Amino acid sequence: MSTYPTRAHSLSASRYLQAIALTWVVLCTGCASWSWADAAAPSITVLVTYHSLSGNTERMAEAVVAGARSIAGTQVVMKRVGQVSAEDLFSADAVVVGSPVYWSNMSGEVKTFFDNWQFKFGVFPEFKMKNKVGAAFATAGQVSSGKEVTMLTILAAMLGNQMIVVGGGGAFGASATTEGESPGIDDKELAEAKALGQRVAEVTKLIRAGSSH
Ligand SMILES: Cc1cc2nc3c(=O)[nH]c(=O)nc-3n(C[C@H](O)[C@H](O)[C@H](O)COP(=O)(O)O)c2cc1C
Repeated sequence: MSTYPTRAHSLSASRYLQAIALTWVVLCTGCASWSWADAAAPSITVLVTYHSLSGNTERMAEAVVAGARSIAGTQVVMKRVGQVSAEDLFSADAVVVGSPVYWSNMSGEVKTFFDNWQFKFGVFPEFKMKNKVGAAFATAGQVSSGKEVTMLTILAAMLGNQMIVVGGGGAFGASATTEGESPGIDDKELAEAKALGQRVAEVTKLIRAGSSH
C-alpha cells in the first residue's frame, strides 16, 4: 500500500489550512477594535431624570448630562420623571434625580416617581435597583429653605433601595438658588451640576470595572 498522499488527502489538507486562515482573519478583525483600556473601562448608562415647571431644574439636568457625557464610554438618557419606563430604570447603571424644592422637600411628582418604583415597576422583593449608583440635585427659590432636605430625601429613597449613593458638586449633590437676589441658574451652579454628572460617571465606571473581575 502506498504511503504517498493521494489527491483526496491533498484536497482535505488544503481545506484544513483554508479553515485555519479564515478563523485567524475573523479573530483578528475582532482584535483590531479591542484594547486593554476597553477591558478596564466598561461602558455605562446614566439616567438623568427630573421634574421642572419653570425650567430651572431642567437647566441643571442638562448640565448634569454634559458632565456625565464628558467621561468616555458613558451613555446618558435624560427624561422627565413622568416619562421614565421600567426599562429606563433597570437598564441604567446610575440614576441621578433632580427636583425643585416644594415646601422644603422634593416635589410631589418626584415622590410619585419613587413610589412608582414599587407600585408600577415592581422593584421588590428582588431589590432590582441594588448596587446602582444614585445621586441628587435640586433648585429652590431661597438660599436656605429646603435644598439639602430635598437632596437628602432623594438619597434616602435610593438608600432604601440598596443603591450606592454619591455626592458631587456640593456635599449632598448639586443645587441652585433661583429667586430673589439670585434669579435663575448661574455659571457656578451649572459648573456644580456638571461636576456631579462627572463624579457619578467616574464612580459608576469604577464600580462596574470592579464587579466585572
Ligand atoms: C408649590 C411650590 C412650593 C415651593 N416651595 C419652596 C420652598 O419651600 N423653598 C424654596 O426655597 N422654594 C420653594 N419654591 C420655589 C421653587 O423651588 C423654585 O422656584 C424652583 O427653582 C422651581 O424649579 P423649576 O423651575 O424647575 O420648576 C416653591 C415653588 C412652588 C411652585
